[in-house]
Amino acid sequence: MSKTATLQIDGKSYEFPLVTGTEKERAIDIKTLRGVTGGVTTIDPGYKNTGSCESAITFLNGEEGILRYRGYAIEELAEKADFLEVAYLLIFGELPTKHELDKFHADIKAQSHVDEDVKKILDGFPKSAHPMGVLSSLTSALVAFNPSSVNVDSEEEMYNAIVRLMAKFPVLTAWAYRKRVGLPLDYGDDSLGYVDNFVKMMFKKPSGDYNSNKTIVEAMDKLLILHADHEQNCSTSTVRMVGSSHAGLFVSISAGIAALWGPLHGGANQAVIEMLEAIKEDGGDTHKFMQKAKDKEDPFRLMGFGHRVYKNFDPRAKIIKKSADDVLEALGVDDPVLDIAKDLEKEALSDNYFVDRKLYPNVDFYSGIIYRAMGIPVEMFTPMFALGRLPGWIAQWREMRLRKEPIGRPRQVYIGENLRPFKSVENR
Ligand code: ACO
Repeated sequence: MSKTATLQIDGKSYEFPLVTGTEKERAIDIKTLRGVTGGVTTIDPGYKNTGSCESAITFLNGEEGILRYRGYAIEELAEKADFLEVAYLLIFGELPTKHELDKFHADIKAQSHVDEDVKKILDGFPKSAHPMGVLSSLTSALVAFNPSSVNVDSEEEMYNAIVRLMAKFPVLTAWAYRKRVGLPLDYGDDSLGYVDNFVKMMFKKPSGDYNSNKTIVEAMDKLLILHADHEQNCSTSTVRMVGSSHAGLFVSISAGIAALWGPLHGGANQAVIEMLEAIKEDGGDTHKFMQKAKDKEDPFRLMGFGHRVYKNFDPRAKIIKKSADDVLEALGVDDPVLDIAKDLEKEALSDNYFVDRKLYPNVDFYSGIIYRAMGIPVEMFTPMFALGRLPGWIAQWREMRLRKEPIGRPRQVYIGENLRPFKSVENR
């Protein structure tokens, strides 16, 4: 295989090295392009053909339905590891020993308080505020309560900042939810596991005992693992970009939350439930909506089916489908909206249009169903995604800083006016 790529411009040839990743992905290294060509640049809106970095965190192959964190298959991690172990793996590169995991968890518990004054900030938001906006703001506000900047050359300082964020973020997520539904703000229970504790912080009522539900905690754990990283997507690229200016960890993550908020990114599972509700409102005829989805004249698409990257199947959906079934059974949920989901899933899986195009339910289809069954309001779906993605964002930020990557500063091709003389206001 050739080791260089040749580019010809105006009859002149330029050679660029080809880079091959550990999974044999190939890329043309154009770092010297502008210098050697006298200013020629590339244009690639949406960066569909642009590798923004070399990364050792997540490997994804959409054609073959492969997702791996640090070389471990997502299927194996979802079955055998818990979310905190996966978080450690993503951030620090290796699965933790028992001692490292216990220490990580103990350090997180020691930092799980959120300054009481943060509650005053939360108080200032109207109850109707979208929890993603609240979460992004509060994460940014954490800087004011944890002002020391991180010396990234010190592993210890880096570790402490990461632990602080991993500790406080679930509290902020639960608070954003509790504010929304009018529940008093609560702190966690250090005797519980990371995810168990989060579920309790979400659902504990002010009166009465709280009983942890194993099926719910396990499903939540799996969902968080499945969302923990997805290489250079929009929010992750945002975290790396903001962090590349040497802005701190917390604000970089806050920017990532803002990016995830957009309906083209984190909002797909919300769209699934909204579609199911619309079908119910319309009388619940799933067949009619299947026909609409297949009709090329009709803009309607079956939300939660198909994927931009996974073209054969979404490996995460395969894993989470079982959890969705377990949760529905364990909770004995009687919800016509979820009945519609089951009908749609069944019809689509045996319909030639969907089978031929390999349009299977994606992870958002099942995560929407699970969150709905747990009684989580739709506006909280994306914050749940953010909680899962947190270790991925942290891992990517840390990698970017440790590799001493330069500040992100893309180029453009200017298509505006050429130089023209200024016109005074009376002559315009
Ligand atoms: N419902 C009906 N038809 C569909 C759907 C769908 N959900 N998804 C794809 N198709 C059709 C396309 O119209 C196309 O038909 P054609 O070959 O007759 O022209 C064919 O299936 C192949 O489509 P793709 O090129 O594979 O899909 P594309 O990459 O353009 O879109 C996308 C992927 C945007 C995810 C799409 O499947 C979709 O809109 N799904 C519903 C929304 C959703 O669930 N999004 C969350 C996914 S997360 C993510 O991708 C970031």
